[in-house]
Order: sequence, then C-alpha cells, then structure tokens
Amino acid sequence: MAFPRDFLWGAATSAYQIEGSPLEGGAGPSIWHRFSHTPGKIRNGDTGDVACDHYRRWREDIALMRELGINAYRFSISWSRLMPGGRGKANPPGRDFYSRLIDALLEAGIRPMATLYHWDLPAELDDAGGWVNRDSLHWFADYAETAFRAFGDRIPLWATFNEPWMTSDSGYRTGAHAPGHRSTAEAARAAHHILCGHGAAVERFRATARGEIGLVVNLEPKHPATDDARDTAAARRADAYMNRQYLDPIFFGAYPVELRELFGADWPLHDLKDFEWIRRPIDFLGVNYYSRGVTRDDPGDPPIRASRTSVEGAERTGIGWEVYPDGMREILAWVKSRYGDIPLYVTENGAAYEDSAPADGVVEDPRRVSFFERHLDAVAAAIAEGVDVRGYFAWSLLDNFEWAYGYSQRFGLVHVDFATQQRIIKRSGLFYREVARSNGAARG
Ligand code: FCB
Repeated sequence: MAFPRDFLWGAATSAYQIEGSPLEGGAGPSIWHRFSHTPGKIRNGDTGDVACDHYRRWREDIALMRELGINAYRFSISWSRLMPGGRGKANPPGRDFYSRLIDALLEAGIRPMATLYHWDLPAELDDAGGWVNRDSLHWFADYAETAFRAFGDRIPLWATFNEPWMTSDSGYRTGAHAPGHRSTAEAARAAHHILCGHGAAVERFRATARGEIGLVVNLEPKHPATDDARDTAAARRADAYMNRQYLDPIFFGAYPVELRELFGADWPLHDLKDFEWIRRPIDFLGVNYYSRGVTRDDPGDPPIRASRTSVEGAERTGIGWEVYPDGMREILAWVKSRYGDIPLYVTENGAAYEDSAPADGVVEDPRRVSFFERHLDAVAAAIAEGVDVRGYFAWSLLDNFEWAYGYSQRFGLVHVDFATQQRIIKRSGLFYREVARSNGAARG
C-alpha cells in the first residue's frame, strides 16, 4: 500500500476566497475586503463580496464534499467574522456560522482542519499597525484562544497560520497582497511577529483544547538556474528566505544566519526569549507545494539578490507555474532530513487551468487530472522513502477568488459558475473521488 491506512484525503479552501458576505452578521471588514475594494489592486476589479457564496451555500458544499468522497476538509476561520474589530468578545453570528459548519462536517464523517489565519487580518488591527506592531502577537493569541474555546472540542486539527512567507513578502515587501506595503524592514518585523503569534497560540492551545496543532508553510526546492556558482549561492539565499526563515526558528530556535547579513539594517534585533515561544513543539507541519523555484543571481533585487526565472520549454499551468512533480517528493524528504520525523500533511497542491465550459454535466480537465496523478505519485514516493505523510488536501474544493488574480484562475475540483453559483464536479473531482475511495490505489 502506497498510502497508510487512515490517510486523510481532503480538499482545502480559505474564508475570504469562498465565503462572500464579508460584512454579514456583524462581521468587520478585513484587510482583503479593503484591498479588493481599492482600485487597481485586483485583476478585473474583482472582490470577495460574493465569491462562492459559501456563507449561505455551505450545506450544499458539504453535500459536494460527500459526493467527492473526501474524509477531510481544510478551511479557514475569518478572524473578523469571529471578532469584528479583531479584539474583544466573540461575535455570536460569526461563531454560530463556523459552529454549524463544523457540526455538519462531523456529521458527514469529514474531519475538519481549521486554519486560524489565511491572510484576512481585521482591518481595525491593520489601522493599529497590523503585523508590524509587536502587539499583534497578543491580538492573535487572544483570537486563537477564543476560537479554541468555541470550537476546540470538535476540531481535531488546527493550523495557526497559512504561509507566513506570503503575508510577509507579498503583504509587506512587494505589496502585491493586502495590506499592500512595500518595505523590507516591515516584512522582517511582520514575519517575526507572526512566528511569535504562532508560538503564543500553541501555548494557549495546550491550556485550552485537545487535538493537534501545527502551521502551514509554502515550500519550494530552490534550484539554481545554471551551474554558475553565483546562481548556486542565489538559490541558497532564496531557500534561506522562503523556506528556512520560518522552519529554522520553529525547529531550531534561530533564524538562518545569512538573513541578518542580507537584510542589514532592516533586520530587527530579536529578543532571545521570543524563540522559546516560537519553538514550542508542534504536532504536525502542513506543507503547501505548487512548484519549484528556479533561481538566478540578481544583484538588482535586494535584499535577497535572487530572482525567479523560468526553464525554457517547461510545462506550465494556466497561472504560469512550472509543473514539477518531483519537487513535491524532494521538499517532503528535505523537511524530514533537516527537521526530523515530524508528521506532515500536504495541505495544498493543485493547478489552475482555463477549463472548457461544462458539457453533459461535467467539465473535462485532463491537464488537471494529470497534474494530480503525477503529484500524488510524488507523495507516494516520499512515503516510500520513509517520510511520515498523513494526508493530502487538494487546492481547491471550488473555483474561487484567487487573491490578486481575482476570478481569472480556476483551481477547483468543482467548477463554479460565478453568475449563477451553479457547481459542477470536474473530471479531476471524479478522478479524486476514485483516489480517495481506493486510498490512493486508483491514482492512474
Ligand atoms: C496558496 C494560498 C491559497 C491559494 C493557492 C493557489 O499560496 O495559500 O490560498 O491562493 O496558493
């Protein structure tokens, strides 16, 4: 058997990308609500105002999950639905929404994995400095505890953060994501406060809930574009920045030394006590894998001086990312060899393609089927090498709001017609159903 018994076969989503109704039931605006309503930030001026209307159609969506035969579902809790201004007491309609969702998932035999932060900071906290303000670690811990107290008896798997690198790099350094800042110094501070907030939330979790907690990182093997020594060094720097910046503090209690040099004056002085928090033991690590990073030396791109390049003639998905299945095996094996035998979940993996229109009740998406087949083979190969992978979550259950790309990139196992909200399972969804049903044996 390539996959262990009790393997989780899931699909993943996040709150702002699917829920819609961002201000319903007394919810407060998040930074993504604000950002998507700022002209010029999102392709086609799209917003998450309606998205997949999951806030109202969640029952239908759980029925779809049952049809897909998945036994796990990864979703995120919107902080500003649960605590509209980010602080204070829980907002009852927000709490009830997630409470009903969780109950219905459990009733359907679907194990929930809840992510506490999938990028949608309450706008009011951004006004107070967001992740650049050190208080953010306490705001987050208090919010986490509120969620643990509300749902901790029913959620077996918790992730504190989704992809902290994206929040720091795209949110604070390049500005492509909310809150849209452009400051290397802010990016370094935000990353550190997120890691402290993670550790503080793990501590609260141990005191208030049962179950398992970890975090979700996006990892990429960084490969040099050529065998020139400058590119090799650039790939190492890119690896320190994207991969090790987050995992070294968690597992070793220290940042990779080269980051301080690269960031120079923008690298903050860290209180050593923070690392006691950050390195609190976690129960699992979630890994999001989409592609590798082919990297070349680029003196014009501080602070890492490395940029992403593409391999000529490489196979790409519709969003332009190289299809590189062996990177999945490589990165899972790398986590084990560098950080030890921590249980892993692939918490996201998937592909955007321009799908053909639904015909005869199905969407034919052969390239996505092939993408999943090959990446599942790579997960199986990692398991065969002895990596403790316990589950796989396809990104995504539904076509949804793909951040700065708006609705232009479809990642779903299920097609969504955004004009009518009609859902149709794609061929890849039917394929995934067979995979889940056969515990991976039917993967092609
Ligand atoms: C990841 C995000 C997820 C989705 C996929 C395509 O970085 O976690 O929300 O946007 O990329």
